[in-house]
Amino acid sequence: MTIKPVFADAAPLSRLPDNQVLPDNQVLPDARAFLADLVSGFAGPQKSLPAKYFYDAAGSDLFEAITRQPEYYPTRTELGILDARGAEIAALLPRGAALVEFGSGSTVKVRRLLAHLPDLAAYVPVDVSETFLRSEAEALQADFPHLRIAPIAADFTRAFALPADLGEGAHAGFFPGSTIGNFEPPEAARLLESFGKVLSAGAMLIVGVDLVKDRGVLEAAYDDRAGVTAAFNRNLLARINRELSGTFELGAFAHRAVFNARASRIEMHLVSRADQTVTVASRAFAFAEGETIHTENSYKYTIDGFRALAARAGWTPVAVWTDPDALFSVHALRRA
Ligand code: SAH
Ligand code: AVI
Repeated sequence: MTIKPVFADAAPLSRLPDNQVLPDNQVLPDARAFLADLVSGFAGPQKSLPAKYFYDAAGSDLFEAITRQPEYYPTRTELGILDARGAEIAALLPRGAALVEFGSGSTVKVRRLLAHLPDLAAYVPVDVSETFLRSEAEALQADFPHLRIAPIAADFTRAFALPADLGEGAHAGFFPGSTIGNFEPPEAARLLESFGKVLSAGAMLIVGVDLVKDRGVLEAAYDDRAGVTAAFNRNLLARINRELSGTFELGAFAHRAVFNARASRIEMHLVSRADQTVTVASRAFAFAEGETIHTENSYKYTIDGFRALAARAGWTPVAVWTDPDALFSVHALRRA
């Protein structure tokens, strides 16, 4: 497998001093890993793909467009909580620590905390979407010229290391956006446990978690009228065509978002509109009319349900904030 050194060619990031030398374990999912995940995801009776593949450069732009849709309440609601409680949240974080953001995407949310954290050792955004990560880190550096920014392009579900000179002390983690909801609960617990190891004992973790609510509100948020979420979903097929020589016709698959109340999750699918055969890297895959590719889960929690999951993963709930309509929650957790 090709090991791609992250940011080795990152001349425009010359203002960011820490991004050049990275251990070999910080690798991006390359085309071979993508193909292997596709082949195993398409092998069973329910075809599926890991949601992380949504986020190439086009996917990150589409996700940002989703956050501006009127139906997609999570982003504006979480930003409202961070605006109202940013100082209180920042006060819980260890002084002089590094702040590691998992799945950083746009830096819009962390700015709400950075404003209250003048003595941060470094800000370490971690994201699988390398081009977007790079441009967001540059924009943030321009606005916070004295902040050390050390971006890491990596899959956070796999082992990765923080820059060695940050030391062994407890760091702070930030995991907003309810990205935790894109993992099945046992996987989510394993992920929180692994974040605990990256951040060290005594660390604090701030996590944004979407809450269970009315089916109509949830399904509209994942099927906006402008069709942006549908385009985000279909971009997965476009990415397969671009990177794996796929022959998907985007119009031959419909976007579907349904709330599975029993599992407490939104499911996104791509539904084949006809019997058809598609090839990917010279392999043929047959789709029957109505057959779906399950592309994403977005789990919705109760406050107590999420706290119990965090506790199972070794994190003690310290505080929780929500909005007046109880749409979304932000949790502060401390690692035992
Ligand atoms: N935190 C931002 C973005 C949320 S979108 C916000 O709250 O608005 C989810 C982000 O996580 C995307 O930027 C995506 O590229 C990243 N991501 C998804 N799966 C990932 C993985 N396995 N490893 C690293 N980053 C991932
Ligand atoms: C990043 N993640 C939390 C989003 C969510 O709401 O599950 C991804 C998304 N999928 C469709 N719309 C947004």
